[in-house]
Amino acid sequence: MEIEIVPLDPATLKTAPTSDFGFGTNFANRMFTQNYTKGEGWHSAKIGPYENLSLPPSTAVLHYSQEIFEGLKAYRRPDGNINLFRPWENMKRFNNSAMRMAMPAVDPEEHLTAIAQLVEIEHDWVPTAEGSSLYIRPAMIATDAALGVYSSHTYLHFVIVCPVGAYFAAGFNPISVFISDSYRRAVKGGVGATKTGGNYSASLFVSEQVKEQGYSQVLWLDAIEGKYIEEVGAMNICFVYEGKKIVTPPLTGSILPGITRMSVLELGRDLGYEVSEERTSIDDILADIESGKITEVFGCGTAAVIAPVGKFGYADKEYTINDYQVGDVSKHLYDELTGIQYGRIPDRFGWTYTIEVE
Ligand SMILES: Cc1ncc(COP(=O)(O)O)c(C=O)c1O
Repeated sequence: MEIEIVPLDPATLKTAPTSDFGFGTNFANRMFTQNYTKGEGWHSAKIGPYENLSLPPSTAVLHYSQEIFEGLKAYRRPDGNINLFRPWENMKRFNNSAMRMAMPAVDPEEHLTAIAQLVEIEHDWVPTAEGSSLYIRPAMIATDAALGVYSSHTYLHFVIVCPVGAYFAAGFNPISVFISDSYRRAVKGGVGATKTGGNYSASLFVSEQVKEQGYSQVLWLDAIEGKYIEEVGAMNICFVYEGKKIVTPPLTGSILPGITRMSVLELGRDLGYEVSEERTSIDDILADIESGKITEVFGCGTAAVIAPVGKFGYADKEYTINDYQVGDVSKHLYDELTGIQYGRIPDRFGWTYTIEVE
C-alpha cells in the first residue's frame, strides 16, 4: 500500500493541547483514509487533513449501520518514544468485526503501518501528562448511496486520533455498577462480539437510566436466561476470590473479546494468580460478595485499563465490595499493565510496538 502524505499549510495547523483534553472532541490535524470499491479492492490510501466527510443522505451507513470501529492508545514512554499496546490484536478484531458485518477485510500489516505513520507524523499530539495518552479510533463505514438493504459495494476506512487525559482524573477510585434485570445487550449468534456501533446505541437507553440513579456503568446478564454475567458497558468484568483467583466470563459469542481482558488473564497467570474463565450466575456472585469470598471486582478495557468496582446495584439492593476501596489485586494489575504500556517496566511479553520519534 502506497500512502500519499498530503502536505498541509502550516498556518492552518492547530497546536496540541497539554491539559484539559476532554474525551474524543479535539482531534489532531491529520487523519488516514482509504476507499474500497468492489472488484478493485482498497485504494487511494492517504494521510490528509482531519476534515468533514461529504456523504449523500442516502449513504448506507446512515440507515442500516453497516459500520465497525476499534479503539487503542499510544502511550508516551519515559525516553520520549511512543508505545502502542498489542495493536496486532486490534487489527485482528477489526477484521473479525468486518467479516461479521459483511464488510471487506483490511490487510492487518498495512492497517498497522497506516496507524504507526499517522501517530509518527502527529507525535506532538501524544501527551506527556501523567496517565494521558493518544486515543486512536480506526473505523469503517458502508458508503453506497442507495437505500436497498444489501452489503455495500463501497466503503471508507479512516483513522482519527485525539489526546485523552487520565481516566481516573481524581485518582484510582472504585466505580458503581448497576446490574440490568430488564434489558439485554446481546445474544449468542448476534453481534455482541463485534465492535459495531449498533451495540453501543442499543445500550444508551439503559446507561442513561442508571446514571440518573447514580451509577456510572451497566453490567449485562446473558440474554437467554438473564442469569449469567456477561460484561460491563465498554469493559469486560473480573472477580477476585480470596485475593488469589481471578475469574472472568468465557467468550461465548455475545461479549466483546477484550484485549485488556486477554492481557489480564496472561499477566495474572504470570504474576502467580490462579486465573479462570467461568460462566458464573448473578446469584452466586452476589452470595459470594455478601459472604466475603469475592474480595474484589474490576472492569478491564482500553479506556480505564482496570476499573475497580466499589458496589453493585441489583433489584433494589446494593452490594458493597471491599468497603468501596481499591483492592490489592486491582492495583497490582493496574500498575503492571500501565507500567508495560508506558514503557516504565520491561515488556517481557512482547506486547508493545514502539514508534521511534526521539
Ligand atoms: C463492549 C466492550 N467490552 C469490552 C471492551 C474492552 O475491550 P478492550 O480491552 O479491547 O478495550 C470494550 C472496549 O473496547 C467494549 O466496548
